[in-house]
Amino acid sequence: MKILVITKLPRQSKDSLVLVYFVKDKPLSQPFFKFLKNSEKKIVEQYFKDKNFSAEKNEAKILPRVGRGKIFLIGLGDRDKWNLRRAVLVARQIVVLAKNEKVAQLTLNFESLKIKEVSNERLAQALAENAVIANYEFNQYRTKQKNNFKIKAVNLFIEKNNQPAVQRGVKSGVIIGEQVNVARDLGNIPGGEMTPKLLAEKAREAGKQNKFKVKILDEAAMEKLKMGAILGVSKGSAEKPFFIIMEYNGGAKNDKPIVFVGKGVTFDTGGLNLKPEKGMNDMHLDMSGGAAVIAAVSAIAKLKLKINVVGLVPAVENMPGSAGYRPGDLLKSMSGKIIEVLNTDAEGRIILADALTYAVRYKPIAVIDIATLTGACMVALGTQASGLMTPDEKLQQQIMEAAEISGDYVWPLPMWEEYEEEIKGTFGDVANLGKTPYGGAIAGAMFLKQFISDYPWAHLDIAGPMKTVESQYLAKGASGVGVRLLVEFVKSQLVKK
Ligand code: BES
Ligand code: ZN
Ligand code: ZN
Repeated sequence: MKILVITKLPRQSKDSLVLVYFVKDKPLSQPFFKFLKNSEKKIVEQYFKDKNFSAEKNEAKILPRVGRGKIFLIGLGDRDKWNLRRAVLVARQIVVLAKNEKVAQLTLNFESLKIKEVSNERLAQALAENAVIANYEFNQYRTKQKNNFKIKAVNLFIEKNNQPAVQRGVKSGVIIGEQVNVARDLGNIPGGEMTPKLLAEKAREAGKQNKFKVKILDEAAMEKLKMGAILGVSKGSAEKPFFIIMEYNGGAKNDKPIVFVGKGVTFDTGGLNLKPEKGMNDMHLDMSGGAAVIAAVSAIAKLKLKINVVGLVPAVENMPGSAGYRPGDLLKSMSGKIIEVLNTDAEGRIILADALTYAVRYKPIAVIDIATLTGACMVALGTQASGLMTPDEKLQQQIMEAAEISGDYVWPLPMWEEYEEEIKGTFGDVANLGKTPYGGAIAGAMFLKQFISDYPWAHLDIAGPMKTVESQYLAKGASGVGVRLLVEFVKSQLVKK
């Protein structure tokens, strides 16, 4: 999809026009109104008069135009409640409507969507990002291309003096939106095909395309490094594990990097602690953290951000089988600590342990891991927010701010030392299961904390938002959660420099 910034709208344009209104606005308060033909103006005015359209949030009406194209009347709700969160949804809503109406090109008035506390650049970025992700559909596996209409272009109308900032925002937004869609593709590919090997290949391709270094460690290399945790989880699967290392050097040579660690379980059956029928649905999405890291590093490279970033993705499949790891097994992790396996379904934290140890060699300025780690986090926060767990208050603040702007919302859960009791091992050093059935998301984070060295660290549990939900105006399936947040976090670190 192209997003074009335009400063002139031809009078009597026959394009599809999007007219946005706040509650209590008059038809004329939308500058595009005057571009309508008289007959069209009358129809719109009648809608307002008859209370057929009152510009409430989520409200939309579509009218045919004389000639070709359509008129979209979009409600923005109360003017004083207008904010970036709502703009995100409006951008998506408009694209979804246009897709349903098979409108290939439409024109939107940027000036009417401005937000007091948000820069034009950031708003333009959000509109572009969300238009691109709303235009996405996972169609690779359909023989009959149903419902495959895609919008070709969105014209963003602005006044001339806004041009450079809006252009910049749109450019970044398209890049980031496209990478969110890349992460969604990786997630949506069925588990039978998206193996650790394929995930590693996809990372390698991404590195070639976007010019960052990719190293893939195979089983033998991991054995040399004594990554007993990753190797332990992977034992039950016929698919070999891989450890994906991505290095983007946009900063100075000696600048310490930010390290992202993504859980790459390409399918999670639960292992010998096999998941029940319903629990296994969607477990091809258990590599969503890894996908987010691959796509975020790609976006950061495409944006040529002047910073060093490393992405680490342990990629394994969690299968039951005669060679599989067992409850009661004691795995020696790369850190030297012994992991007591109490449940083979809590595999994500085990593979992340070795990745968090591997991260030490970079002397990172911060490490953020991102993982579909626990159903418990989903129980706690639902599907609209990821859990954020970190012992570092400053990092927590920075991530929360980046999250709010990015649209990948997070909410903090505590990591008090009192919780440490939960994951003490009986025969090993650390147990991979909490002692009580409560606070499972926190127990997961407390486990990870045992493998942290002296770098600032935060853990994102993305189990809740890994799939899209109805109200988000996004295609069913993987959401690409985390890509926008990780990129925004890196950008915010640049501002500080
Ligand atoms: N991948 C799952 C977590 C998950 C569940 C993600 C549902 C998304 C949706 C993870 O590996 C897992 O199975 N966790 C267990 C942990 C438990 C055994 C301590 C869980 O959440 O039940
Ligand atoms: Zn599991
Ligand atoms: Zn899992």
